[in-house]
Amino acid sequence: PEDVQPNENPGADGANGNGGNQFIQPVADRAFSTRLVLPPTLTPTDGADAYQLTIKAGTAQMKPGRATPIVGFNGIFPGPTIIATRGRPISVTQTNAWNENVTIHNHGHKVAADSDGHPIDYIAPGTSKVYSYPNDQPGGTFWYHDHTMDVTGRHVYSGLAGFYIIHDPAEDALHLPSGAYDVPLLLQDKRFAANNDAIFDEREIGAGFHGDTAVVNGVVNPFHEVATRKYRFRLLNGANARIWNLRLNVGGSGTPLPFQVIASDGGLLAAPVNTTSLAMGPGERYDIVVDFANLPLNTRVTMANTARSPGGPDIPALMQFVVARQESDPSTVPATLANITRYKEADAKARANVSLSFNNGDWRMNGRAYDPARIDMVSKLGAVTIWTLTNDSGLMHPFHKHLIEFNVLDINGQPPPPEMRGLKDTLSVPGRSTARIIFKNEGFSGTYVFHCHKLEHEDHRMMLQEGIIP
Ligand code: C2O
Ligand code: CU
Repeated sequence: PEDVQPNENPGADGANGNGGNQFIQPVADRAFSTRLVLPPTLTPTDGADAYQLTIKAGTAQMKPGRATPIVGFNGIFPGPTIIATRGRPISVTQTNAWNENVTIHNHGHKVAADSDGHPIDYIAPGTSKVYSYPNDQPGGTFWYHDHTMDVTGRHVYSGLAGFYIIHDPAEDALHLPSGAYDVPLLLQDKRFAANNDAIFDEREIGAGFHGDTAVVNGVVNPFHEVATRKYRFRLLNGANARIWNLRLNVGGSGTPLPFQVIASDGGLLAAPVNTTSLAMGPGERYDIVVDFANLPLNTRVTMANTARSPGGPDIPALMQFVVARQESDPSTVPATLANITRYKEADAKARANVSLSFNNGDWRMNGRAYDPARIDMVSKLGAVTIWTLTNDSGLMHPFHKHLIEFNVLDINGQPPPPEMRGLKDTLSVPGRSTARIIFKNEGFSGTYVFHCHKLEHEDHRMMLQEGIIP
């Protein structure tokens, strides 16, 4: 299945001459007529730091007509947003009221191995598990989702995904857009049957499952009303396998609205990055600030997608923002956002290689299929380590490592683009490319996985595990 179209590299599309106006208004007029829904914030059951969620079947109004059956946290999709505070631990009790094994991973969170949602650390139907989340890391946009061995793709597609946001007092002091102006956006693609069932086909393992319709926070092509001021959007590519290359187009003119990238997977960047486009592979998060201040009322701004994926039809647009009212803007985006830990090559005490490839008919890391009983790599807690990720296949693979955030040293020998110079836990490694990451495992020892975040690749065991020892 590989090599269908080797240009799936999300960074490559700009070079293909796709930057013009052809992406502006190709979606039927009836799109963008449904309001965006924001997931509810989960309230702690003890009024403090203990939360409870129940995994169960439910429905979600994804498009007009019949509500789509889902499996969700508290039976809703997206799951309730959990808002934690840096330095203040919480617990989340997950009760499985569904009929399949699940395990829940908090993506990007530094947690003990027994709370990490290891692929066979099942919560059996009718049972519960308490996950402990220390929140001992910089604030940022994270997400919790199912991680069950071999079936993560189907489970996440069914609805087992929600935002986990860590607020950080240091971040609050910056006066970035907050409250109603801080909006999480879960970007996915789905395919619908005539009765509004969401169709999934786990056999689509080549490029991974691709839908033909954009769904944002569980709503097909929504619109969101905004005021003439700055907003922070927490973008999460929660698609099974699709990459997005996002731009914001003003009205029908195709004029790009510039925006600022302020955070990557693990939290704030050192400084905002001004851009007009942003590529995101599955599992990645970027927080952006968009200023609607200079736009006339009723202007529509389209979140467009110029990425081409070999696994499904192009999806030219995700949602629209409608400038609906005048407002003043007390928020700011300071020129310095955070002090980021950035390891240097000279700091490294250990090195290892991870190959991403297609061998003997399936996706593999270091030529192996995932075996939960085997430790593939032994790492030392506290040692600054460089991993060289060699992708010799023609497709991009989003490489995700558990436990820590890493820095990207280089991609094909070049320094990473500015938005990738902060804290990352998922890196889109372009086809036929080599990337190097540098990190220090810290906080916990134990067994942690790393894998491709194209969920069908992960489910086909494009995953290994690391034994982290003190
Ligand atoms: Cu978002 Cu190991 O996964
Ligand atoms: Cu992959």
